[in-house]
Amino acid sequence: MASFIAAIDQGTTSTRCIIVDKQGTIHSVAQKEHAQIYPKPGWVEHDPEEIWQNTLEVIAKARIQLRLTTRDIAAIGITNQRETTVVWNRKTGKPYYNAIVWQDVRTEDVVAELAKDGGADRFRDKTGLPLATYFSALKLGWLLNNVPGLRDDAERGAALFGTIDSFLIWNLTGGPHGGEHVTDVTNASRTQLMNLQTLEWDDELLAVLNVPRAMLPAIRPSSGTFGTVTSEVIPGVPITGVLGDQQAALVGQTCFEPGQAKNTYGTGCFLLMNTGTQIRPSTCGLLTTVAYQFGTEAPHYALEGSVAIAGALVQWLRDNLGIIQSSGEVQTLAEQVDDNGGTYIVPAFSGLYAPYWRTDARGIIAGLTRFVTKNHIARAALEATAFQTYDVLQAMQEDAGVALKTLRVDGGMVVNDLLMQFQADINNVPVIRPRVTETTAIGAAYAAGLAVGYWSSIEELKANWGVEATFTPVMPEDKRVELLHNWKKAIERSFDWAV
Ligand code: G3P
Repeated sequence: MASFIAAIDQGTTSTRCIIVDKQGTIHSVAQKEHAQIYPKPGWVEHDPEEIWQNTLEVIAKARIQLRLTTRDIAAIGITNQRETTVVWNRKTGKPYYNAIVWQDVRTEDVVAELAKDGGADRFRDKTGLPLATYFSALKLGWLLNNVPGLRDDAERGAALFGTIDSFLIWNLTGGPHGGEHVTDVTNASRTQLMNLQTLEWDDELLAVLNVPRAMLPAIRPSSGTFGTVTSEVIPGVPITGVLGDQQAALVGQTCFEPGQAKNTYGTGCFLLMNTGTQIRPSTCGLLTTVAYQFGTEAPHYALEGSVAIAGALVQWLRDNLGIIQSSGEVQTLAEQVDDNGGTYIVPAFSGLYAPYWRTDARGIIAGLTRFVTKNHIARAALEATAFQTYDVLQAMQEDAGVALKTLRVDGGMVVNDLLMQFQADINNVPVIRPRVTETTAIGAAYAAGLAVGYWSSIEELKANWGVEATFTPVMPEDKRVELLHNWKKAIERSFDWAV
């Protein structure tokens, strides 16, 4: 058996490739950012061809850094930003339009229109998802209605739809010269076109949303056969693990038991709780989604609290306001003040996701006085992520009917001790940071490695997980209550803005 597993993590802002060994130790990492395209307020696009080229580049770099030949890599896994929608031509491989990113709100009016008949939850029973701009189906609908010639091509199977995983697999396995058109159950569960029970595209949803079946990929388990790479960077390596990035992080954190949960702090923030083989409907504004399916085993499901803007707010402070030069500086600024100085930021840049689902909300900064400095703004930005997590955690506990005893965290922002301590304080629950916080890519590697027998069981994976730091709550209760009260007021002020 070859010595390593590779994994691609195609995220919202960058593409990474890691190479890991049996102990889950990362031996090589390569990363490249791609352009964020904002054609109009609320619209967010990526160039799929740039993402594809970056993917090839990071695979090559990660492999060369370790001087590996393809024979050293037993398999490759793919994890990706979910919901982001691409359509491309089967013959030429060319995308018809930029990828419409999950954060994009251009389908706001369609959400309102569809909700008139049966309300915002009309597809919840089948898909686990409310009507929102977030999921792929309405983005695909927009493309079909707005890109000249696309609908005709789609109906005769000449135009293909995929989330980013599908687009990358199709290209890695030969593209126009025989690529595989496939996706996995977790990514398919975010399109709002898949039935959670059958794990198949749903005829009724396809009819209501007017999506031609001929353009859809085949749905596979998350760990299994997806195709073999033909690209020169790693020819002959099998692709055997595919998961949406938040589900991959759940796997990477080895949350295999019902009731175990993780929160990933990336561009957005995503809290997922494994609910076992039970499809658990939410009444508190969470999503029901597929967590993973390994081979022929029964699928596991999860409850998810999705927050659209977390790390992206820090990037906004850097790129749009220029009050920090690098993301890491936000902690340095925030640490210089004792508290937020009365300032609250609600980063509803794409409306508010869980548990509110308000497409009409927009970002606000509340509580400004002349006392407030950029230090307070930096602190409020970090606190916004923790407050949003608090909101989804409350909903999660209510939906699941159990109190969470600890919160496992991962993702880029968890290096920030101030945020982690504040998170523990606001939740009044200890926060656990594992040794390896690169859990998203590790999760995809685990799914790929399980399929080829590199790891023989999930017990082996659990042994790879260990704690690096625990943040214990210390904030006095009256302070916590006061902060949460003000946060609630700020949230309400963000509503009804884009109407
Ligand atoms: O649902 C969107 C999510 O998958 C994006 O994750 O890590 O790219 O912000 P990330």
